[in-house]
Amino acid sequence: MSLGAFLMSTTTRQVVETVGFSVPESPSGGALPHLLVVGGGKGGVGKTCFAVNVGVEIARRGWRVVILDADLTCSNAETMLGMRADRRLDDFFERKRGVCLQEIACETPYENLRLIPGASGLLDAANPRYRQRDALVQGIRALDADLVIIDLDAGARLNSLDLYLQTLTHGVLIITPERTSIDNAFKFLRAAVYRHIERFYGVPEVGVLLKRHESLRGFLEFMKTADCFDRATRKVIERELLALARAFRPRIVVNKVQNAYEAQVAAQIMAKHARDHLLSRPESLGFIYFDHAVSEAVNSGVPFVIGRPRLRVSGCVVDMANRLGYF
Ligand SMILES: Nc1ncnc2c1ncn2[C@@H]1O[C@H](COP(=O)(O)OP(=O)(O)OP(=O)(O)O)[C@@H](O)[C@H]1O
Ligand SMILES: [Mg+2]
Repeated sequence: MSLGAFLMSTTTRQVVETVGFSVPESPSGGALPHLLVVGGGKGGVGKTCFAVNVGVEIARRGWRVVILDADLTCSNAETMLGMRADRRLDDFFERKRGVCLQEIACETPYENLRLIPGASGLLDAANPRYRQRDALVQGIRALDADLVIIDLDAGARLNSLDLYLQTLTHGVLIITPERTSIDNAFKFLRAAVYRHIERFYGVPEVGVLLKRHESLRGFLEFMKTADCFDRATRKVIERELLALARAFRPRIVVNKVQNAYEAQVAAQIMAKHARDHLLSRPESLGFIYFDHAVSEAVNSGVPFVIGRPRLRVSGCVVDMANRLGYF
């Protein structure tokens, strides 16, 4: 079947959000854990620092939190938490003795906080197959926790994209006030939006067609003149694509900033790119100052919200936990 014919046969499908997790309400209330996915495309921007500190802060408030270190090559949430685990994601992917994800969640030095340590980078977990990725998603849904925070690795591999797509409203994009970081975060978000659309139509050809276009807006322009569809079909497809893209509400966090103004400018540039080219609706979640105390905290293995609660960076994390609604 041609793509045109396929699209025409599917245009009556209802556009539904793939959000599988509810929005914050109260600890231990819901059947499924809430989800916060931390990505951003570029390496070293502070994804893990954010995931660990916000995780510790929310756990301190009584939420039962699991941090899933989904870095499949160079995981280091364990180091930042000052602990050594004897189980890790490799064990889950290898299905050693049929181990389930819940069994890999290790206690941390902090009450209410458990960690699923990332893969070692030694075994074959860096590029999990579809079945393994699917099992991971099912395992996350089945975790006995109030909140699961997923710390993604750098880049935009399928594993990261599929995890990011588990929540369209609670995906966090960490950037720094540098063009390269904003560029990479945009590319990560674009890959996620395109994959979301590709999965909605259920055929890889859609992804191939989309990837010929730098932006979703460009693709929509192309669709307006594409003669393989009649006017009515084009309208339906346009409506579906807009709905799929607008379901994305990425929360932007600007890390390593000198001041609030710098953070605001970076967040606005990122948001404008996302709105103009991907038609999604980002929100600014907050920012974290550049502070040498952050790397000292990494080296000491004590998250800064615990070791240095009076610092401005700790206040920034507390504010963001509040803004997310985890009281
Ligand atoms: N606000 C900050 N101020 C100063 N240094 C910071 C700040 N946030 C992070 N860093 C430093 O940047 C380094 C990288 O942070 P982190 O490991 O969290 O990045 P990442 O995005 O998770 O990287 P990767 O993509 O490799 O997983 C940390 O070791 C830390 O020392
Ligand atoms: Mg990291």
